[in-house]
Amino acid sequence: MDRIIMFLLAATLAAVRCGCDANYTRNDFPHDFAFGSGTSAYQWEGAYNEDGKKPSVWDTYVHSRNLDNGDITCDGYHKYKEDVQLMVETGLDAFRFSISWSRLIPNGRGPVNPKGLQFYKNFIHEIVSHGIEPHVTLYHYDHPQSLEDEYGGWLNRKIIKDFTAYADVCFREFGNHVKLWTTINEANIFTIGGYDGGGTPPGRCSTCSSGNSSTEPYIVAHNLLLAHASASRLYKQKYKGHKNVIIHIQVSGSKSLKILRMLGPLTYGDYPDGMKRKIGTRLPVFSEEESELVKGSCDFVGVIHYLAASVSDSQSKPFLPGDSKFFADMGVLLTYVGNFTAFEYEIAPWAMEGVLEYIKQSYGNPPVYILENGKPMKQDLQLQQEDTPRIEFLHAYMGAVLKAVRNGSDTRGYFVWSFMDLYELLSGYGYSFGIYSVNFRDPHRKRSPKLSAHWYSAFLKGNTTFLDSQDIMQLQSNLSSSATSL
Ligand SMILES: *[C@@H]1O[C@H](CO)[C@@H](O)[C@H](O)[C@H]1NC(C)=O
Ligand SMILES: *[C@@H]1O[C@H](CO)[C@@H](O)[C@H](O)[C@H]1NC(C)=O
Ligand SMILES: *[C@@H]1O[C@H](CO)[C@@H](O)[C@H](O)[C@H]1NC(C)=O
Ligand SMILES: *[C@@H]1O[C@H](CO)[C@@H](O)[C@H](O)[C@H]1NC(C)=O
Ligand SMILES: *[C@@H]1O[C@H](CO)[C@@H](O)[C@H](O)[C@H]1NC(C)=O
Ligand SMILES: *[C@@H]1O[C@H](CO)[C@@H](O)[C@H](O)[C@H]1NC(C)=O
Repeated sequence: MDRIIMFLLAATLAAVRCGCDANYTRNDFPHDFAFGSGTSAYQWEGAYNEDGKKPSVWDTYVHSRNLDNGDITCDGYHKYKEDVQLMVETGLDAFRFSISWSRLIPNGRGPVNPKGLQFYKNFIHEIVSHGIEPHVTLYHYDHPQSLEDEYGGWLNRKIIKDFTAYADVCFREFGNHVKLWTTINEANIFTIGGYDGGGTPPGRCSTCSSGNSSTEPYIVAHNLLLAHASASRLYKQKYKGHKNVIIHIQVSGSKSLKILRMLGPLTYGDYPDGMKRKIGTRLPVFSEEESELVKGSCDFVGVIHYLAASVSDSQSKPFLPGDSKFFADMGVLLTYVGNFTAFEYEIAPWAMEGVLEYIKQSYGNPPVYILENGKPMKQDLQLQQEDTPRIEFLHAYMGAVLKAVRNGSDTRGYFVWSFMDLYELLSGYGYSFGIYSVNFRDPHRKRSPKLSAHWYSAFLKGNTTFLDSQDIMQLQSNLSSSATSL
């Protein structure tokens, strides 16, 4: 399957370096196409131990290693009303965020924390009462530490039941207002980071203090798929009175085209044959019933896309220590366009267009949401204010989405990552993606619009989007002469 992508990439690589000269306005998109932005719980909320919240694996991981953390971060838990006001001023149609499992159900299962419940009700109410569509992710890598301690978290099938019960609480309590649910964020990135490379919580791998990179990523991925499918079935059976509900597991199109590995089971109810041959007995097997459960459990595909990678065959390459076992198993070698570790993401809109074309052609043109796309820049308040490179990046990618839509892709929404500068998972506060800056040295965590927030807002409110360099300079001078309001 990767061969097709390789071909697509190779074919478009030469042709389009940058879609920067594209010219479009919001009116060129379908009228119900949703433009939004987003955050996630651990990265935005702070209040890590307030009002009954208990630790997630992220709290434990960063505290035990003395890393930068999300203890306070944007303090969204206390400042959510102000942030919804910024969403309104920007003109967002939709907003994407995640729920912290251990804030809502501190021990992972059992009693609901009333204050946690109230917080999410208030936040969602604030969003919908301003006419913005909430898009909620249930799991953004931050499962409760107590489940990790009790039975090994995602390594144990018990988590399927607990995740389903947690999802049930969310559907019941927030389902009246939330029509778009994502069950699991970037399922494949999580399994690779947490159980293969060990670089994200819970930090397991063959060379880590515990773990097994040959087997655990597959067990975890299998349980994630089943947990997703179980929550999805619950919704369809118990809450089908709610109309227009869409549930999905999000697989990642970022950093590569790993998206494919999980779309297989979700579309066809089983892993691809090639994968089964390669992984052999290390790959868990779906029972017939499970296969039925998993198959067709997604109503849409979420794409997270940051940077392109060319994919080549790694059969001839030696397997080096530190290399991903997962990619070695897959027999592919990824070469990033740009420098991933240095946060230098080159503008490669052809890759976005290629992913959307591929999903359209290979998986029967399912509805797609681009749930994350954005550009990191060094966290420097001055530099960040004048983030013209971010505007160029977003402009090029939105143009690529438009091209795919014009060619028949059923892409229905685009979310800029991120709405404001956040605690970035593992990298901390060195680089950030926000269209609003947050002064993390200020105890009040003051937010200010960057040039990109003004640009996005101009696009959302008017008919023009492309700002040439002169317009951008004018926008900049407008920004510095006027107050910070949009
Ligand atoms: C975009 O198209 C409009 C209408 O065709 C035109 O007036 C405008 O100059 C174009 N802008 C750019 C940047 O190409
Ligand atoms: C991982 O598990 C496999 C299969 O059970 C086993 O052969 C291998 O020795 C284990 N590796 C480590 C590092 O424990
Ligand atoms: C990527 O950036 C890192 C950090 O700046 C640097 O050490 C590394 O050499 C760069 N890699 C490439 C391939 O340029
Ligand atoms: C547009 O869609 C058609 C039909 O799916 C496909 O054959 C063609 O390659 C697509 N064009 C581009 C530029 O991707
Ligand atoms: C945007 O375009 C629509 C139709 O093309 C037009 O009716 C509307 O007045 C335009 N709005 C602005 C702000 O130019
Ligand atoms: C800057 O402000 C002027 C005066 O309010 C306005 O006419 C112009 O359209 C603005 N330019 C941009 C790029 O926002």
